[in-house]
Amino acid sequence: MNSCSKDDNVAVNALEAPIANAPKDVNDEGFRAKWNYVSHAKSYLLDVSTNENFSTFVPNYNAKEIIDLNEVVSGLNGGTQYYYRVRAKNETEISGYSNIISVVTTGSSNIPEDPTFLKVKANKLANPFFVGMAVKASQLTNGSPYDVILKNEFSSISAEYEMKMDQISVSSGVYNWTVADKIVAYGNSNDINVHGHALVWHNSVPQWLKDFSGTDAEFKAEVKKYITDVVTHYAGKIKSWDVVNEAVDDNGGTMRNTIFLQRMGANYVKDCFQWARDAAIAAGDNSLLLFYNDYATSTNVLKQDKVFSIVDDLKASNIIDGIGFQMHNNYLNPTRAQIEADFNKAVAKGVKIHVSELDIQVNQSNDISTFTNERRLAQKEKYKEIVQLYNALPAVNKYAITIWGMKDNESWIPFSAELNHPGNDWPLLYDSNFAIKSSHTGFLEGLD
Ligand code: GLA
Repeated sequence: MNSCSKDDNVAVNALEAPIANAPKDVNDEGFRAKWNYVSHAKSYLLDVSTNENFSTFVPNYNAKEIIDLNEVVSGLNGGTQYYYRVRAKNETEISGYSNIISVVTTGSSNIPEDPTFLKVKANKLANPFFVGMAVKASQLTNGSPYDVILKNEFSSISAEYEMKMDQISVSSGVYNWTVADKIVAYGNSNDINVHGHALVWHNSVPQWLKDFSGTDAEFKAEVKKYITDVVTHYAGKIKSWDVVNEAVDDNGGTMRNTIFLQRMGANYVKDCFQWARDAAIAAGDNSLLLFYNDYATSTNVLKQDKVFSIVDDLKASNIIDGIGFQMHNNYLNPTRAQIEADFNKAVAKGVKIHVSELDIQVNQSNDISTFTNERRLAQKEKYKEIVQLYNALPAVNKYAITIWGMKDNESWIPFSAELNHPGNDWPLLYDSNFAIKSSHTGFLEGLD
């Protein structure tokens, strides 16, 4: 009873700061500012300024009181940079400020690039890198919220699943390129880097190949043909491929017992990389980057050792360019030191590092049912930490940090039976309404 009334007091007394959202209806003379509902708030105080410090205000927009969750700000200049922020109000009580949203009105003046967009900030670094997003072809319609955010904020894409073998390979030598082509064309026509994911993965073997009744040598020839045809098809259109995904077992640092190991032997990873390299060169692409991609190497040292021994082997034949660290992390693990140690090993091997599937769970132990402020901030710090560590890498080792999905409610995390917390989680940079989260601010801060 005591703790109940205490909680109630906290909820009433501490008015939460609102989250300001990206503007709508941006035109030559204004925009619609938006923000999220705050529990117990009766109104909101909106500030609009032409400078990020809010040292001056647009006339009438110094704590303008608004009952609604949005406001049409008008009478502004075209092609001009504005900022807005908002506070919640409940009679005499006023919350802290929201995040700051940057908006540029349309029009013909010199439009500055928005510094709160991830790729804009990443591109200005001394040693820039790509900021990537996992996508599905159905999201890439011109004008969709995904499309707008991708073009504003991201400089690289990976297919979440539509470029895997079971999606492309219909039968021996027969391919369905339609969906994968759409993803690649989107990247190519919008000046967005395309990372290929993934040629060989034990969880995306098409049924016909699982059932393949030929000899082991014939099986191997099928895999070679697949890799050769796919790399050739996309030569010059894709900058990099995950050649083999998850070849190492979670226990004991041995090779994972997959159909590829069983039918092609212990050298299969090397064979796949060699075929990918040969196909690229034959197609005139001498700079295709080849990655080995895997998960949980930072926390599982036996696995890490095995991955790096594979990398050594591939490196000796000059057929690998980088390692993909998936980084399906959580707000506690891996620790900063573990991530740094993993990165440093890759640096010592002289390979590029792709943080290839980043998401940060906040409910891995299934102990919360709503996204608490505490976890929101912990997640923000964790995003900031990994971006900082990545940004500190030597230029030659950088490639991209790719976020594994856009919206929390579409992330694979809460739905994964394997992860065994089939409830709530909020692992990404945007909420279910495409509003940026504190994690997005954490990413930006990591670039400072
Ligand atoms: C692994 C794969 C990804 C994806 C995730 C789950 O990490 O590499 O392609 O399937 O699992 O979304």
